[in-house]
Amino acid sequence: MSKQRDIILARLAAGSRPVSGDRLALELGISRAGVWKHIETLRRQGIRIEAVTGRGYVLCSEVLAASVLETRLKTRFVGRPCLVLDEVDSTNSEAMRLASEGAEEGLTVIAHRQTRGRGRLGRNWHTFADDGLAMSILLRPNLPPEHVSQLTLVAGVACHQALSNFAPGIRLKWPNDLLHNGRKLAGILTEMRAEPGHVQAVVIGIGVNVRAPANGWPADITQPATDLSSIAGKPVSRLETATRLLESLEAIYVDFLENGFAAVSEQWWQAHATSGKPVRVHDGGRYITGIADSLDADGALLLRTENGIERIIAGDLEIMT
Ligand code: BTN
Repeated sequence: MSKQRDIILARLAAGSRPVSGDRLALELGISRAGVWKHIETLRRQGIRIEAVTGRGYVLCSEVLAASVLETRLKTRFVGRPCLVLDEVDSTNSEAMRLASEGAEEGLTVIAHRQTRGRGRLGRNWHTFADDGLAMSILLRPNLPPEHVSQLTLVAGVACHQALSNFAPGIRLKWPNDLLHNGRKLAGILTEMRAEPGHVQAVVIGIGVNVRAPANGWPADITQPATDLSSIAGKPVSRLETATRLLESLEAIYVDFLENGFAAVSEQWWQAHATSGKPVRVHDGGRYITGIADSLDADGALLLRTENGIERIIAGDLEIMT
């Protein structure tokens, strides 16, 4: 998108009042006809902009564009800068590539489509245009590598807080899922680059089902899925979802850095789905059954089994009904 069109879009997105063509022309140093041409181009791209007689232009549709998101966000560093790509292999891979080129903490990559979106344990994660939100945030915490798994739970609390603005009843499933009535709504994939004793970059990848795919859920998903719009009972915008997620992530992450993991862990436990229910964990070849007892100081799950407490650091958890 041209720089001038980007500025026009950001100005329209900044408020709900019409912005006059004269004002835009003055700000950009172009003619009113020039502004009108940009508006027409934006309309041809499918963006709804209405002209209110005598008052100016109003943005009437959701636009998940970097300039719009950066204007709306009330964050200090998360989402700054923000890249919104039409298509990429995986936003996590792209964020990691940019990290190795020296990108700073907070950089966020969003894509309308991922061709090789990844989930945990080598699974695919599908992102289709307009239905899902695929977003990766680069963090550079001063943490030992063994504490990075805590960040998945930090991101979980942030996602829970952000998505609960749209609908009640969302719960967390250890270590990285967000569920609604047992159906998967969102997932988190944390990846890091580290050298001994020192983390260079952490990428928090968040995938949210914002709307159900028009052609139904893909055949290879491993658990029943749901989407934010269905559970909210009204269409939810990806722009609003991304804004809430990035704002919550910054707040919870800063709290974690300043005050440690205990408070985050407490919030995570309040929002988890397995309270008191038997669970089965698939942990590298063996199944362990028990009741989720608590999280330890590293974010590992402590499972009460018939043989005592088992500490689970990775695995797939299934809630038994
Ligand atoms: C999971 O549930 O297993 C985690 C899913 C994480 C998907 C997100 S979408 C944005 C980011 N890019 C990826 O390739 N994966 C994550």
